[in-house]
Amino acid sequence: MKIFVTGGTGYIGSHTVVELQQEGFEVIIVDNLFNSDLGVLDGIERITGTRPGFECFDLTDAPATRDFFSRHRDIGAIIHFAALKAVGESVEKPLEYYANNLNSLMNVLSGAREFRVPGLVFSSSCTVYGQAAVLPVTESTPRREAESPYGNTKMMCEDILRDVARVEPGLNVIALRYFNPIGAHPSALIGELPLGVPNNLIPFLTQVAAGIRDELSVFGDDYDTPDGSAIRDYIDVVDLARAHVIAIRRLLEGKNERNHEYFNIGTGRGLSVLEIIRAFERATGVKVRYRITPRRPGDIEKVWADTTWANEVLGWKASVPIEETLRNAWKWQQHVGRER
Ligand code: NAD
Ligand code: WQD
Repeated sequence: MKIFVTGGTGYIGSHTVVELQQEGFEVIIVDNLFNSDLGVLDGIERITGTRPGFECFDLTDAPATRDFFSRHRDIGAIIHFAALKAVGESVEKPLEYYANNLNSLMNVLSGAREFRVPGLVFSSSCTVYGQAAVLPVTESTPRREAESPYGNTKMMCEDILRDVARVEPGLNVIALRYFNPIGAHPSALIGELPLGVPNNLIPFLTQVAAGIRDELSVFGDDYDTPDGSAIRDYIDVVDLARAHVIAIRRLLEGKNERNHEYFNIGTGRGLSVLEIIRAFERATGVKVRYRITPRRPGDIEKVWADTTWANEVLGWKASVPIEETLRNAWKWQQHVGRER
């Protein structure tokens, strides 16, 4: 069975390709390499023994996307990861974010419809919940107005998928709402490749631990949380990748109850920034220099997932302990530090 993975050389895509191949799926990746590089294919091949199919083009190019579908008529399902994802940058460049994230989805959906691909898994985000009034958030927690153009593209993509699925009974869609994906493959052969100064907590933290940056800024210690720092639900990237394989199987086996479904993909446990620093130090034995700084504008105080629906209906559960995830992130940092 051939799975079309858009954005498959990216961070979450590459880990998912590994899990798909290890489960016996054939993979064809399309990526324009805007935020990834071809070396990722070597990493995937070294882990799995198989080099996935790969084509480099921009999915906002409608004729190229249609041509791709016309040449791969045996695609059994799609996982659509390709998107721009930097929240802050999206505020500066809203048009680029809307054009990239919406057009690529619409081109992929047009191909799925014309060439009768029966299933699509979409990368959504806990960002659609914003600061929820009640925690943990379930899939029926109301979505809140997006704080950024990036977040808005996730809301709009979910809506496009819902509306298309409603009139296309042959197309089944699952949107996975990821919480905070972190870590790397335990082999340290693939991981996250942030461009420039990382915006996200874990890549910044591992770069501080590696001596690439002086100290970590902890954005705020005056939140209404037990230690005052903000709380998130950090999900191991391999656990997250496994959720995609399970979602794909659900679609291929026709087990879905409706033709568009949503699942929260998190651990169900919230950890504060200070707890993450302590867990990293415990897991690796490496001290992290940090300083408390003012809150980051736009940040929410706390969020974590209710994962009951994913556990019971999807049959997926996070399994990697946080210390192991942080050790893998550190191993990956050391590998990148050596090779770059
Ligand atoms: P990533 O940037 O590592 O991977 C995305 C890949 O898509 C990149 O390799 C990029 O080159 C490619 N791409 C982007 N636009 C493209 C286009 N028009 N045509 C072809 N390729 C294109 O990001 P990631 O962290 O792996 O995220 C994957 C998906 O998960 C994204 O949709 C993202 O919004 C979503 N998501 C990520 C997080 C997170 O914290 N990483 C959280 C929630 C949701
Ligand atoms: C985590 C926590 C920061 C950096 C973003 C997107 C979200 C989703 C996941 C895609 C927060 C704190 C961070 C630092 C810090 N992506 N922090 N010092 O903001 O929860 O979510 O990525 O859909 O949409 O908004 O992730 O890793 O940036 O921050 O103290 O140098 O770490 O304040 O509490 P965030 P993050």
